[in-house]
Amino acid sequence: MQFRQFVDDDLGCASYLIGDESSGEAVVVDPAYSIEQYLEEAEKRHVRITRVLETHTHADHVSGHGRFALEHGVPVHVHPEANAEYPHEPLGDGQEISLGDVKIRVLHTPGHRPEHCCFVVTDGSRGDEPWLVITGDSLLIGDAARPDLASEAVEGATGLYGSLQRLLELEDGVELYPGHVAGSLCGAGMSSKASSTIGFERRFNHALNIGEDEFVQERTNSSTPRPPNMDNIVEINRGPFLGAQEPLGTVDSPNGGSILDVRRPREFVAGHVALGANLAEIQREREEAEKAAREELKKKQKTVGNGGAKGKAAEPAPKQEDKPAPAPPPMLSLFDLPAQEEEAPRPTTGREEEEDLVPVPGWESEEVLLTVTVTVAVTTGASQVGGGVASTHEAPPTENLSVWA
Ligand SMILES: [Fe+2]
Repeated sequence: MQFRQFVDDDLGCASYLIGDESSGEAVVVDPAYSIEQYLEEAEKRHVRITRVLETHTHADHVSGHGRFALEHGVPVHVHPEANAEYPHEPLGDGQEISLGDVKIRVLHTPGHRPEHCCFVVTDGSRGDEPWLVITGDSLLIGDAARPDLASEAVEGATGLYGSLQRLLELEDGVELYPGHVAGSLCGAGMSSKASSTIGFERRFNHALNIGEDEFVQERTNSSTPRPPNMDNIVEINRGPFLGAQEPLGTVDSPNGGSILDVRRPREFVAGHVALGANLAEIQREREEAEKAAREELKKKQKTVGNGGAKGKAAEPAPKQEDKPAPAPPPMLSLFDLPAQEEEAPRPTTGREEEEDLVPVPGWESEEVLLTVTVTVAVTTGASQVGGGVASTHEAPPTENLSVWA
C-alpha cells in the first residue's frame, strides 16, 4: 500500500493519498484546493489518482475536488446527505472501494455533518484486517469533532456519540488518521500529533470515556468560535465544481489600478507599500468629510451657546476648548475597509514566536512601489487565488499583494 498524509499547518487540515502498487491506482481523501501536491506525489510513487473521496462537505477550506474533476476527469465520491450539486458518485455505509490489494470500507459516521463518512483501510498484501482508519471530522487525536456547525447541536452531538461508538468497534491496533490536527477550529482539544491508534484514544481520549448524556452536554456547551466564512465555503464546496483560478501576473506599475494589501492587519501595520490612488482618494474624501462634519458641529455648538431659537431662554453654552479639533487618523488601513468579516480568534499553532514580524523599511514611500513589482500581482477578476480561496483561518500570504485592475 502507498500511504501519504498531507498536513496544512496553517489550517490544521489533513488530507491523504492512498495507493496500491499492484494496480497503480490511488485515491485522494479530502483534497485541499492546491492539488499539485497530490499529483506530484502520485507521479513520484508511480500511481494514478482515479478517485477523490470526501469525508464530508468542508467548512474551513475549499476542496480541490472540482479541480480534480475538471482538470483531470477524476470522479468524486461523497455521501448523498451532502446534497452535493456537483456530479458525484454516492458513498454508502458498508460500501467497499477496491484499489487492487487495498480495500477501503465506508463507515457512515454522522454527527459533525449528516453526510460524514470514515474510511477503514485494509492492505490485503499484509493482512485481511483493517490497518488504518481515516476519521475525518469525527474522532480526532485527543478530542472529537464539534457537532454544531451543520446540525442542531444536541442532534449533532447525539449522532456523533453513536458514530464514535462505531469507531470503537475497530481493534486497538488500528491506526487513526484524522481530518484535523491542532490549529483547526473544527475541534477544541486536539493534539498536534498527526496520528494515533484506536487503542490509545480508547484509553486516553476524554470524549471516548464519558457517557452519552455528559458527552452531549459538553459538546453543546462548547464556545469554540465558528470557522469564519464557513457558510460561503460550504456553499462553494457543495456547489458546482470550482476549477483553477486565473493565474496572477506581475506588472511594472499599478497602471491606473489601486493597490489592495490583503495581508493580516498586523503585517500591514509593520510595513507596507504606499496605498494606491483609489484608496488614497478614499482617505482624502473621508478626511474632508470629517473636517466638514467638525465644522458643522462647531457651528451648531456656537448657535446653542448664543441662545438658540428666538424666544427661548438662553442655555449655557457648552464649554468650548480653544484647541483645534483632533486630527483625523493619518492612514487608511485594512481596518477601515468595508464589508470585511470579523476575524475569528486565531487558534493556537505553537508557532507564534516564528510569526513575529519585521518592519519593511522603505515600503512606506511611493517610489518603492515601482521597485517591488515582483510582489505585486494583477487580477482582473474577483478572486483572491490561494489565500482567499483556499484559506479562511489565515489571511492570504504576503505574495498575494494584489493590484486590482
Ligand atoms: Fe469539517
